Amino acid sequence: METNVNVALAEFRKAMGMSQPQFAEWLNKKLNRRYDRNRISKMESGAEAVPAAVRLLTQRPAVFERTVVVAVANQKGGVGKTTTAVNLGYALAASGHETLIVDMDSQANATIHLGQNPLRLDEAQRTIYHVMLRRQPLADVVVAVSDSAPLFLAPSSLSLAAAETELIAEPGSTQILAEKLKSLGGRFRFVVIDCAPQLGQLTMNALGAADYVLVPTQTAALSMMGIPQLLSTIDKIQDRVNPGLSVFGILPTMFDSRTSQDKESLEELHALYGERYRIFPEVGQATIYPRSAAAGRITLEVSPDTRGMEIYVELAKSLIDTVAREAADAT
Ligand SMILES: Nc1ncnc2c1ncn2[C@@H]1O[C@H](COP(=O)(O)OP(=O)(O)OP(=O)(O)O)[C@@H](O)[C@H]1O
Ligand SMILES: [Mg+2]
Repeated sequence: METNVNVALAEFRKAMGMSQPQFAEWLNKKLNRRYDRNRISKMESGAEAVPAAVRLLTQRPAVFERTVVVAVANQKGGVGKTTTAVNLGYALAASGHETLIVDMDSQANATIHLGQNPLRLDEAQRTIYHVMLRRQPLADVVVAVSDSAPLFLAPSSLSLAAAETELIAEPGSTQILAEKLKSLGGRFRFVVIDCAPQLGQLTMNALGAADYVLVPTQTAALSMMGIPQLLSTIDKIQDRVNPGLSVFGILPTMFDSRTSQDKESLEELHALYGERYRIFPEVGQATIYPRSAAAGRITLEVSPDTRGMEIYVELAKSLIDTVAREAADAT
């Protein structure tokens, strides 16, 4: 059955002056897929549904007045930043909001988690490093990473490690990411930045570009020790670089309710920060998180019933509500 979507696809292809095989090749390059003439023909005739990623790429993009930028940050390693950025990003996108995840960590964990190959992207100079320091336009490195939701990624690679020192020499070095995001001209409703486990130039850029910071923390004494330093850095960024930045809240992760240590740490977290900051419900431990990350799959997309997923969905809702309230207040 032919629908508007199928017809729009054929019209888009013809407007670009491409044959079906050329169009397949173009899509494959953009989306990292293996379409051929036959599949394109099926999509255009309505014999096959047009995948969400193809639809998004070929539709005229929406232009949002304001893009809301959320940095997921904590200089402590392994506290659930990447897991949070990926699942929150997907939850936002799955509610119909065009969302871009920016991988600001040279470990490229989010890039791999989202099924992309950092080495290949690095060779093609299509990573956030090339955007930040090699004048590659941000729009040119963005890849679609989900068939079921409008989720996109600005990937990272090992090259980004060099950015820490290279950025120091750049004028206005903490504002570069903010400028690059502006260059997207309202193409995305939300941007979620996955930060590296350090408070260096890249994390400063993320905080300089963000409206909100979300701080995941493991509920273990040692993991929580870095929070005061992060919060004081956020205060400084607010004073000097980005007065629009606010703390969205603290998210306890990998919580094991069977251990008294985790329970005590959670109480301590509430006692120390509960008055000044929002503390979200804790995400429990589940083995599916590392498994899906290693398999390059989004946990919320492939196993939405996993324990803790409801918290990522709630976080997304809360963010969407906060933004809607802000918009209402502004008018
Ligand atoms: N709720 C959870 N239950 C069990 N394992 C989890 C959970 N959340 C995250 N993990 C796993 O813990 C490890 C660290 O998580 P993640 O990579 O998200 O942390 P990170 O803060 O981004 O780390 P880094 O500082 O190295 O960037 C990963 O293997 C991840 O799959
Ligand atoms: Mg990470």
